[in-house]
Amino acid sequence: MKRVAILISGGGSNMVRLVESMTGDHPARPCLVLSNRADAGGLARAAAMGVPTAVVDHRPHGENRAGFEAEIQAELARTGAEILCLAGFMRILTPGFIARWSGRMLNTHPSLLPKYPGLHTHARALEAGDGEAGCTVHEVTEILDDGPILGQGRVPVEAGDTPETLAARVLAMEHRLYPAVLRRFACGDRTPILLP
Ligand code: GAR
Repeated sequence: MKRVAILISGGGSNMVRLVESMTGDHPARPCLVLSNRADAGGLARAAAMGVPTAVVDHRPHGENRAGFEAEIQAELARTGAEILCLAGFMRILTPGFIARWSGRMLNTHPSLLPKYPGLHTHARALEAGDGEAGCTVHEVTEILDDGPILGQGRVPVEAGDTPETLAARVLAMEHRLYPAVLRRFACGDRTPILLP
């Protein structure tokens, strides 16, 4: 069984879907849900599912990102994490940390990469007049929202969409895509999954 740690900053709906998926003949199990914010709603949801949780607040570290990451790494080592899933984790990681987890760290991003790395993806897709939007699960490399694509899920942009309505449609697709990719990844299979 591969041990999976999930990093969150907010509600953690993707984290919930990942945890729920890791049962039965799934080749992985959750070992830790870690948040940089003590008030992240996902922490209580993880605890309710019986998953150990931890908080590593970035603020006392100021500009010292390596110090923040050393605390995270200590939690990951303590729980024996082998795969790291970023799920709405809103801190940028240093090259050193990323190198340490090279080939073992996944992220979900709410756009069809390489379109719209960074923030405000839904507003940007609407402004561009795109006919479709979606999400990408990829391996994390040094370049933000880059790295080998492990899966993409497409959704239509509908007339009258706002960033919020589009975000909800994309999030529902992330909930399908991320567990499917993790399952395959934990088996050592990096073949991209394309949904629907
Ligand atoms: C997801 O849509 C995820 O793709 C996005 O935050 C949301 C988290 O939702 N991540 C980013 O924007 C990363 N830059 P959740 O907390 O309910 O899983």
